[in-house]
Amino acid sequence: MCGIVAAAAQRDAAPLLIAGLKALEYRGYDSAGLAVLQGGQLRRVRATGKVREMESLYLADPFPGSIGIAHTRWATHGVPNEANAHPHVVGRIALVHNGIIENHAALRSALQKQGYVFSSETDTEVMAALVDAHLSKGMSLREAVIATAKELEGAYAIAVISNDEPGRVVGARRGAPLLVGVGIGEHFLGSDAQALVQVTNRIIYLEDGDVVEISRGGAQIFSLDGTTVDRPIHESEISADAVERGEYRHYMQKEIFEQPRAVAETLEARVGPNGVLPNIFGVDGEELLTKVQGLHIIACGTSYHAGLVAKYWIEEYARLPVNVEVASEYRYREAVVPQGSLLVAISQSGETADTLAAMRESRRRGYLGTLAICNVPESSVVREADLKLMTRAGPEIGVASTKAFTTQLAALALLALHLAKRRGLDPQRYQELCEQLQHLPRAIERALTIEPQIVQLAERFIHRHHALFLGRGMHYPVALEGSLKLKEISYIHAEAYPAGELKHGPLALVDEDMPVVAVAPNGPLLDKLKSNLQEVRARGGELIVFADKAAHIEGNAANGSVLRIDAGGDFIAPAVFTVPLQLLAYHVAVLRGTDVDQPRNLAKSVTVE
Ligand code: G6P
Repeated sequence: MCGIVAAAAQRDAAPLLIAGLKALEYRGYDSAGLAVLQGGQLRRVRATGKVREMESLYLADPFPGSIGIAHTRWATHGVPNEANAHPHVVGRIALVHNGIIENHAALRSALQKQGYVFSSETDTEVMAALVDAHLSKGMSLREAVIATAKELEGAYAIAVISNDEPGRVVGARRGAPLLVGVGIGEHFLGSDAQALVQVTNRIIYLEDGDVVEISRGGAQIFSLDGTTVDRPIHESEISADAVERGEYRHYMQKEIFEQPRAVAETLEARVGPNGVLPNIFGVDGEELLTKVQGLHIIACGTSYHAGLVAKYWIEEYARLPVNVEVASEYRYREAVVPQGSLLVAISQSGETADTLAAMRESRRRGYLGTLAICNVPESSVVREADLKLMTRAGPEIGVASTKAFTTQLAALALLALHLAKRRGLDPQRYQELCEQLQHLPRAIERALTIEPQIVQLAERFIHRHHALFLGRGMHYPVALEGSLKLKEISYIHAEAYPAGELKHGPLALVDEDMPVVAVAPNGPLLDKLKSNLQEVRARGGELIVFADKAAHIEGNAANGSVLRIDAGGDFIAPAVFTVPLQLLAYHVAVLRGTDVDQPRNLAKSVTVE
């Protein structure tokens, strides 16, 4: 989704801004631009496509200037073309924006009546005109931004520069992330800490309603009533190395292979020989947990799939009822909240607009409290939750989520066991589940060794248009995640079904052109799954089965191809079986030549509704 970088630097801003935008590319975008102030002149360059295309234009005609703003745009209002790309210039100001302004149409017509003529279809140009209109009443840039912010409905993070105040950048946020980078004699704004890692690790996280003015010498934060506010400086732990691709061809491949370490870090000092440690939330969550009678999990995309797996775990082992719902639906319906319910928000980024809004909405619905399962410690979801359980995946750059998913599963497994123990799960079974969980990093490492076989398998998908994924029980969400990965990055239409539903519709689609991928770990449902698979073979469908080493299922004419995975136990099997499906999607996408890390139309961090 849109990314912002801004600089009040001691050196030329454009190269810094371009490097910052490159670090934000992972968020997904379809055009890019920057504007720089120099000696009373505002220079701008914009282009559709990748940052490097905008960079080439800049390099063909570079301009100096140490104050600037830059942007990657993920189109919402108006198609991705140069006219709609940011920065938008109106009068003597330039502005970049992340978010959606809901009352832009009314504002636009009011401004048109005042004589403003618009050159784009965006809500952003309307904001720029509004700032300009306030400036012409004699306000300072900061005052004009505050006045504008008060008139906006919707979500925004913005950065603005003006020819009349050449030493500063003014930023503001509500509902979309923006943070300040504190350098030595320089200050910056960025959508996340990764954008600024090349210039500083010292970060101030802005809150909703904050307006900030940065210059070389300082950063001053104001609330919308114009009073100053203090926000602490944090040392970001993100290192430049963590966002390097290293020897890997794509970030997604790197992140798939980082999973053993990321999962090990998520489990570290949280589960030991005596089970799950009481401090998994970092604070005492006991008082709240003793009252929990049920959980509502809300999330989007891959995080939603993690929630679906957790439902099986928590209901089976802790015997607590769990509802899982996509956040965009939950926030707009009147869900019944039984007494003693805990709201759990799962989000890799902690900035997903629907998840955040659903969490806020839950406040008036009578929950015991909120728990965030998240990968970004300073994110909005984490800051607003009562309890937090951090995944420790490190920065995830590939739009298609991989290590974030398995670390979410690791965190949710800890939560399930923590609740199960309190709820009287048989101690022997509890102990056994804890041991399985401790072995999860090793089991994922073993699963990764299947890559050469997956490379061969991927060739069979190159010219396919559709694929079906099947699973049963807690492996149905794994099938959902496998199909999501394939469609996201290879653009092959893929659907997932609980295998028992096959006869109720999807079987009609099965013919020799339809590969069917089944997740078949060992367990009580294996025999039922085998009969579902026979139904596919009988219709000539090409069957690919990922089976547990211990499962009695052979590859032959009746069963199709069988690839063996050592699941390492029934409890952790969903996390382990996810790995070959990630690899399959990855290698199919590589063979089809798609943009693996930044698939078309998708964004990593969906900060608008
Ligand atoms: C986007 C990303 C997905 C992610 C989803 C939820 O769609 O492309 O990879 O699963 O948002 O994001 P979150 O950060 O809330 O987990």
